[in-house]
Amino acid sequence: MSETILVAVAWPYANGPLHHGQLGGAYLPADIFARYHRIKGNRVAMVSGSDSHGTPITVRAEAEGRSPLEVFQEFHESFLETWEGMGIQFDLFTSTDTQNHIDVTQDLFTRLLENGYLYEAKQTLLYDPVDKRFLPDRYVEGTCPHCSYDAARGDQCDNCGRQLDAVDLIDPRSKTSGATPEQRESEHFFLKLTDLAEPLEKWLSSGKEHWRKHVINFTQGMLREGLKDRSITRDIQWGIEVPVEGYDDKRIYVWFEAVIGYLSATIEWAERQGEPELWKEFWQNPEAKTYYFIGKDNVPFHTVIWPAILLGAGGLDLPYDVPANQYITMSGSKASTSQNWAVWIPDYLTRYDPDPLRYALAAQMPETSDSDFSWGEFHRRNNDELVATWGNLVNRVLTFTVRNFDGKVPEPGPLEAEDRQLLDRTQSAVDAIGESIEGVHLRQGLQQAMALAQEANRYLDHSAPWQSIKTDREAAGRSLYTALNAIAGLRTALAPYLPFTCARLNEYLGETASIEELGWQVHALEPGTPLATPSPLFTKLDSSMVAEEEARLGG
Ligand code: MF3
Ligand code: ZN
Repeated sequence: MSETILVAVAWPYANGPLHHGQLGGAYLPADIFARYHRIKGNRVAMVSGSDSHGTPITVRAEAEGRSPLEVFQEFHESFLETWEGMGIQFDLFTSTDTQNHIDVTQDLFTRLLENGYLYEAKQTLLYDPVDKRFLPDRYVEGTCPHCSYDAARGDQCDNCGRQLDAVDLIDPRSKTSGATPEQRESEHFFLKLTDLAEPLEKWLSSGKEHWRKHVINFTQGMLREGLKDRSITRDIQWGIEVPVEGYDDKRIYVWFEAVIGYLSATIEWAERQGEPELWKEFWQNPEAKTYYFIGKDNVPFHTVIWPAILLGAGGLDLPYDVPANQYITMSGSKASTSQNWAVWIPDYLTRYDPDPLRYALAAQMPETSDSDFSWGEFHRRNNDELVATWGNLVNRVLTFTVRNFDGKVPEPGPLEAEDRQLLDRTQSAVDAIGESIEGVHLRQGLQQAMALAQEANRYLDHSAPWQSIKTDREAAGRSLYTALNAIAGLRTALAPYLPFTCARLNEYLGETASIEELGWQVHALEPGTPLATPSPLFTKLDSSMVAEEEARLGG
C-alpha cells in the first residue's frame, strides 16, 4: 500500500553559501530518503525554504551596509543553484518571505492566542546603551550559566546545547558595540510551554522507539529539567508583524515562524499543484508520516517547540521522526564560516561532479556521532570505492559485453549455483537497502550496496568471462548476464545516493523508463536488450588535488 511521506528539511538561514556540513547533515539525507520513497511509489512532498529572517541575516546585512532583503535574495538564489547542482530534489523550496508564509504564521499565532497558549508579559531584556537598542539574542555573547562556556550566544550555548535566555548569561557583552548591556523592560508575547509540557510528555512517552537515541535522550532531558514559557516576539523590525494592535515596533521571533514554514510550504506546494486541499493529506492524516531532517543544534525546536505549537494550535500531525544528525567536522576541526573552514558547495561544483561528494558524505553520515570530512578521504573514496569498485565493475562488464555479444544482454542458458547465488544476493541486498533507508540508516544502506558491488567483482574475477569466452562462449554469456543483473539491481539501489550516475547507467542498460518508473525492485535485464557503450561513470582524481584543496582552507 502506498504511503504518504512528508520530508521536512531545515530552513537554512540565507546568509551565506551552503557548506558540506549542512549538506551532509540535513539536505543530502533528506534527498536520499525522499528519492527512495518516490522510487518505492509513495506519495512524497519534500519541502523547505530559505529562512529570510533572524539575526544571522541582519548581522551580515549590517556588516555589509545592505538591506536584509538583499542578503536574503542573494543567498536564496545561491541555494537554488546548489540544489540543482547537487541534485537535491525539493518538491518545493520556498522562503519565509512570502505572503502565504506570513498568513499561515499569523493564523497559527492567532489560534494559539485564542486557545489560551499565548499571553503578554513584561520581559527584562538586554539593551545596548551605545547602539541605543534592544539586543536580539544573537547580538549578545557571554558565559553559559550551565557549563561556563565563555562564548555562549544569547539564545543558545553551542557547547552544552542548552537554550538560554540572554539575561541569564554571565558577563554579557554586545557583539556589535562591545558595550556591557543594561537590563530594560519590554512587553512581549509568551508561549505557555508550562501548560504544554504534559501533552508533550504524553506524546513522547509512546511510539518513539524508532527515534535516534541522541534525539530522544536530549528531548527527555529537556522535559526533565522543566520547560519555561518562552517569548515569541522581539524588539526588531526585520520579521513578520505581530497580528495584534500596539505591536508595530515588534516582530514575531524567527524560530517561532521558521518552523511554521513546514506547514506553509506544504500549503504553497499543494496550491501550486492545483490541488489546494492536498496539504491536508500530509498534516491532517493519521496515516501520514512526517520526517524532519535537521542538524543536532536544531533538535529542541523540532522535538519540543514545534510539537508544542502544533499541540497548542490543534488538529495538525506531530512529527513522526526527527532523524537529526550530529556534526561533520572538516579535517578534524569544527566547520566555520568566519575561518573559511569548510567545503563551500557552489565552489565545489565548479571543479567536481556532484555524485562523488554525495557518496563521500553519505558514507560518513554522522547519524550516531560526529564524523569528519577531509579531502584525503574524499580522494580515497572517489578513487578506491567509486572508481575502482563500482565504476570499474560497470565499465568492464558493459564494455566487454558490448564488444563480444553484439551490444546486447547475452542469453544465459541454464544458470549454475554460483550465478543463482549472486542473483539471490542482489535481491536480498536491494530489500535490505530499502529497509535501511526506511529506518533512516542511510550510511548502512550505502555500505550494503557497496558490499554487493564487491561481491559482484569477486564473482567476475572468479568466473572470468574474458577467459572463458575463448573456449566456452555460453559460459561467458552466462557470467555477463549474471553480472549485468547485479549491476541492474545496484542501478536502482544506488539511485537515491548517486542519482546522476545511476541515471546514466540506466541508459547504458538500454532502459527507456526512468528508475523512478521502474520502481524499487530488481528490474531484471532480458536477454537481447540492447546496451550502450558506457563512458566511465567516475573519474580518477590525481592525488595532487588533496593538497590543492587543502590550500584553499583557512586564511
Ligand atoms: N535557520 C535555522 C538554521 O539554519 C534552521 C531553521 S529550521 C526551521 O539553523 F525549523 F526553522 F525550519
Ligand atoms: Zn553551556
